[in-house]
Amino acid sequence: MGLLIRNIKGLVQVEDDPRPKVSGKDMSAFNYISDAFLYLEKGRITDFGSMSHLPGRQKDSKYVVSQEIDATGRFVFPSYCDSHTHLVYSGSREKEFADKIRGLTYEEIAKRGGGILNSANKLRETSEEELYNQSYERIREIISMGTGAVEIKSGYGLTLTDELKMLRVIRRIKETSPVEVRSTFLGAHAVPEEYKNNRGKYVDLIIKEMIPAVASENLAQYIDVFCDRGFFTPEETERILAEGAGYGLIPKIHANELDFSGGVQTGVKNHALSVDHLERTGAVEIEVLSGSETMPTLLPGSAFFLGLPDPPARQMIEAGLPVALASDYNPGSSPSGNMKLVMSLACIRLKMLPEEAINAVTINSAYAMGLSSTHGSIARGKVANVFITKEIPSYEFLPYAFGSNLIDTIILRGEIIN
Ligand code: NIG
Ligand code: FE
Repeated sequence: MGLLIRNIKGLVQVEDDPRPKVSGKDMSAFNYISDAFLYLEKGRITDFGSMSHLPGRQKDSKYVVSQEIDATGRFVFPSYCDSHTHLVYSGSREKEFADKIRGLTYEEIAKRGGGILNSANKLRETSEEELYNQSYERIREIISMGTGAVEIKSGYGLTLTDELKMLRVIRRIKETSPVEVRSTFLGAHAVPEEYKNNRGKYVDLIIKEMIPAVASENLAQYIDVFCDRGFFTPEETERILAEGAGYGLIPKIHANELDFSGGVQTGVKNHALSVDHLERTGAVEIEVLSGSETMPTLLPGSAFFLGLPDPPARQMIEAGLPVALASDYNPGSSPSGNMKLVMSLACIRLKMLPEEAINAVTINSAYAMGLSSTHGSIARGKVANVFITKEIPSYEFLPYAFGSNLIDTIILRGEIIN
C-alpha cells in the first residue's frame, strides 16, 4: 500500500547510485527527471522514473497504490536537511537586534552579558515542559518550510542541569515529531559569567561532569565547541574534543566566524564531521580542508543578519571542496530556519549557482549530520521525505523567488503532513 505521485513536472536530485556527498565541479549538477512519477511505500522511496515507464495497473503490478497525487506543473524535491541549528531556546533577543542596528557588534553585545549568556539566563528560568513547547513551535514552522531532518545543539544551559534539560528536550522532539533529529552537545558555547575569571574550571566542568553525564544518558551523537576569538581557544577545544571522542561523540565545530581562529585546523585534525560558519577563511584553511572528510558548512543567514563578511564559497568549490548550507536557527545570529531563504542568500551573496545551493541543502547537509545514506536525495530505499511545490516554471525559481512560500504539500516518512 503506497503513495503514488504522478505527472511531476520535475523530480529533483534523483540518484540511482547514492553518493555520500558532492564536491567541487560536481556540485553544479544533479540528476533530474522531467514528467516523472515517484512511488513511496512503508515510509521509504520505493521507485521513480519517467511517466512513460510507469507500470500499468495490472494485478501483478509491483505498486499497490492506496493514495495518489497528481503533481501536474509542480516539482518534487527531497526535503531540506538542516545540519546546524540551535532551535531549542527560551524567549527571543529582539532588544539586541535594536542594539545591533544602533551600531554594537555581536562581540560587544556578548561582552556586556548579552548574547549567548542572555539566552542562558532565560533558559535556566524556563521549565523543561515550557522549553519543549516553545521549541516544538519552531519544529512545526521548519516542517512547514520544507525541512525533513534537523540537527539541534545544546549550549544555552551552561550548567550540568540545564545542558541536560536542553538535551532531553531535543530527545523529546525526536520522539514526538516526524522530522529526523540529530543532537549535539555544545556545553562549550560560551564561558558563563560565574567562571569569567577562571575559565579553566569551566572547561574542567565540561570534561569531568558534563560529557560523562551526556554520554551516560546517550543524549547526543555529536560534540561542538565555539572555537573562536573571545570564546574557546584551539587548545581548550582539543581537550574537550579528546574527552568527547572517548565517549564516541563526533565533533562538529563552530569555526572561523569572528577570526582566523585555528578552528578549521582544529576541526580537521580531530576528524570533525563538519566545520561551520567559516566567514574568516583563506587559502590556508581551504588547503587544510582539501583531502579531508570534514564538510565545510556555511550559514549565510547568520553572516547576513550580523553583517559579517561572506564566506568564500566560490573559492572552496573551485578548489574541489564540497559545501553544505544550514540555517543556524538561533535567537542571536539567525532567528530563522528558512532553508529556502538560506539557498537564496547563498546564490545572491555567496554566488553559488542554484544547482550548487540545492546540492548544499540536501545531500551535502545530510552528510554534515551523518544522514546521507538515508536522506538528502531521491533514491530507492531512502526515507520518503519530500515536498511538492506549487506550480512553478523551473527549479531555479525556488531560490530566485526569495520571499515566496512555494511549498504545496509536505511528505515525511511517506505520510502527508498538512
Ligand atoms: O552559530 N556563534 C555561535 N553560536 C551561534 C549564535 C548563538 C547566539 O548568539 O545565541 C551561532 O551564530
Ligand atoms: Fe551556530
